Amino acid sequence: MQLRDLTLPNRVWLSPMCQYSADERGAPTSWHLAHYGARAAGGVGMVMVEATAVAPDMRTTAGDLGLWSKHQVDAHRRLAELIRSVGSVPAVQLGLAGRKSSHGIPWDNTGTRHPVSPADGGWQPLAPSPLPFSGLTTPRSMSAADIDRVLGDVERAARNAHRAGYEALGLQGSNGYLFHQFLSPLANERTDAWGGDLERRLRFPLAVVSALRAGWPAEKPLVIRTPVTDLLDGGVTTDDTEVLVARMAELGVDLVDINSGVLVPEAPRPSEPLENTRFAPRLRKLGMLTATSGSVTEAHQLHEAVPNSVDALLVGRAMLRDPYWALRARGGPPADVWPKQYHRAF
Ligand SMILES: Cc1cc2nc3c(=O)[nH]c(=O)nc-3n(C[C@H](O)[C@H](O)[C@H](O)COP(=O)(O)O)c2cc1C
Repeated sequence: MQLRDLTLPNRVWLSPMCQYSADERGAPTSWHLAHYGARAAGGVGMVMVEATAVAPDMRTTAGDLGLWSKHQVDAHRRLAELIRSVGSVPAVQLGLAGRKSSHGIPWDNTGTRHPVSPADGGWQPLAPSPLPFSGLTTPRSMSAADIDRVLGDVERAARNAHRAGYEALGLQGSNGYLFHQFLSPLANERTDAWGGDLERRLRFPLAVVSALRAGWPAEKPLVIRTPVTDLLDGGVTTDDTEVLVARMAELGVDLVDINSGVLVPEAPRPSEPLENTRFAPRLRKLGMLTATSGSVTEAHQLHEAVPNSVDALLVGRAMLRDPYWALRARGGPPADVWPKQYHRAF
């Protein structure tokens, strides 16, 4: 698959999944090298490294990766080199947590649905409007200066991702994070230039895309995880998304990674394998490349979906269970598929 100057060896990619295992300065650790290295050697066409914050207050937890300091860039460089050296393509997903910020990590005493206060090492979340996410701290409504600062952070993180040697850049624009919060009337109640009708709600997401493109080389591809619909009355609709996607194409987005129903925990959430592929035809008609993820466990599901319904597939949890999922899905004689170091296993 070709995305700008990048040639990908195949269309099954590791879906970005937070490991909550950064060092105390937000940099990748030995865990990340082992985890991503195994999956890169396991035959995925691209490794999308987990949501990596553009600034300290845009992390979800204290265990998140970041890309705002030299220490972080240096550690990401080792990770990107490792992924490339074993035959995959290194990509990183940038993250802006917004109101889904400053919570616990899954295995600590607090968990992801519990706020961590500044007294316990947390921070004040920022969002378009002071509407809390499901029991987390009430966010502070972003001022024009906050918005400017965050857009600057986005551009710096994109530049740092390039310096670290990543070959594709992703953005967590869905799942109820800041990009999605500005887009959805259910999270954005602003009455200034950044909220209200669709045009105003699009302003922040499109400014983020412009900031990404300003910091990221023209020859390298940009992938945005995009919510197609909130599946809730009054939320983002597929008509809104068509406008968003057309505008993102003009601003230099190469592929949208689609999902739906993830703004708030109460939203209906598609759980059937490949359910979100039903939204792809409308976006493909606009000339946009598409990918999706969701409950894929079997090779036949991959082969049904790609390239008929979507241009690429991201696989998440199945690859946590099995780093060699992509090699197994490829099938064929082991000597043609598996790394030569493993041939004596067959
Ligand atoms: C442990 C875990 C961490 C995740 N972290 C992220 C993330 O950092 N960024 C993101 O866009 N999605 C994240 N997701 C969602 C996955 O990328 C994926 O879209 C979702 O799990 C559905 O695909 P699957 O059924 O193949 O796992 C995460 C999912 C899991 C299970």
